[in-house]
Amino acid sequence: MSSSSLALDLREEILRLKRERNAVILAHNYQIGVIQDLADFVGDSLGLSYHAQDTDADVIAFCGVHFMAETAKILNPTKTVILPDREAGCSLEQSCPATALESYLKEHADRNYYVIAYINCSAGVKALADVICTSGNAIRIVEQAPEDRPILFVPDANLGAWVMENCDRKMDLWQGACYVHVEFTRNSIQKIKDEYPEAKVVAHPECTTAVRLMADEVCSTEKMITYCRDAEARDIIVVTEGGMLHRLRKEVPGKNLIAGPTENCACADCRYMKMNTLEKLHACLETLEPQIEIPENIRSRAEAAVVRMLEQSK
Ligand code: 13P
Ligand code: SF4
Repeated sequence: MSSSSLALDLREEILRLKRERNAVILAHNYQIGVIQDLADFVGDSLGLSYHAQDTDADVIAFCGVHFMAETAKILNPTKTVILPDREAGCSLEQSCPATALESYLKEHADRNYYVIAYINCSAGVKALADVICTSGNAIRIVEQAPEDRPILFVPDANLGAWVMENCDRKMDLWQGACYVHVEFTRNSIQKIKDEYPEAKVVAHPECTTAVRLMADEVCSTEKMITYCRDAEARDIIVVTEGGMLHRLRKEVPGKNLIAGPTENCACADCRYMKMNTLEKLHACLETLEPQIEIPENIRSRAEAAVVRMLEQSK
């Protein structure tokens, strides 16, 4: 049997198990193409959170990274939430352990910080936050922060800096970064711009300021779809994780969508996002493992911060 017919059988098996389990498959825009193609919903962190909140399925198979599946569990404590690979983490999440944030807040208790946590963090960090934000609503959420309290923004310093450039609030920034997006440099983007002099550049706000300054638009992965569809330019350089190009090329045909290169690679891959495979998705639907579990005292506090975000971004 050829490998493509094996993949076809596996896809059919996944869909059969999905029906049997009354499961929904949610996938982030950075997942491999075959997973995106059989998911019920593909989107950015904000869209995925809304879908996780709305679903009436019994099982949520979350094809993304751990903090995303955890957010689905925070919103759905009675549902079974599974992630194909338990090790699919995130460098931003790792840059801000809950214990470190807790100590920092204790040390600076006199500041009475209003804590805004980018969704790329653990449930423990969400439980310490006043509100969560995603790249799709960060400016909106920061603008709604109480004016009489200083803001601590965790964990992404690049996203935080971009928000400050776009609204009149000052914030103290936790010094975390996405290991994928900081790999784009002015030099790597200039080289591809030289090849396509007419191209527009759209970049994710997790990129460094130096790279964001070269972009015609900075936005979340979901808004990249609208930007590429509406832009008059035919050539568009997309400066984010390479999985994004799959959905973009499907939904915006007829344009030349070019993956932004790093110094070493023609296209940037997040090793965590790419840990999920069809085989692991099949296995987790079969065994309902690995499951996301969160202690209730943490989950309920994290839920308050996530729900506040969903309300404030309507
Ligand atoms: P989006 O919410 O824009 O999809 O970003 C998620 C992410 O992990 C970016 O690296
Ligand atoms: Fe985390 Fe960066 Fe991977 Fe997004 S691309 S999941 S921020 S490591």
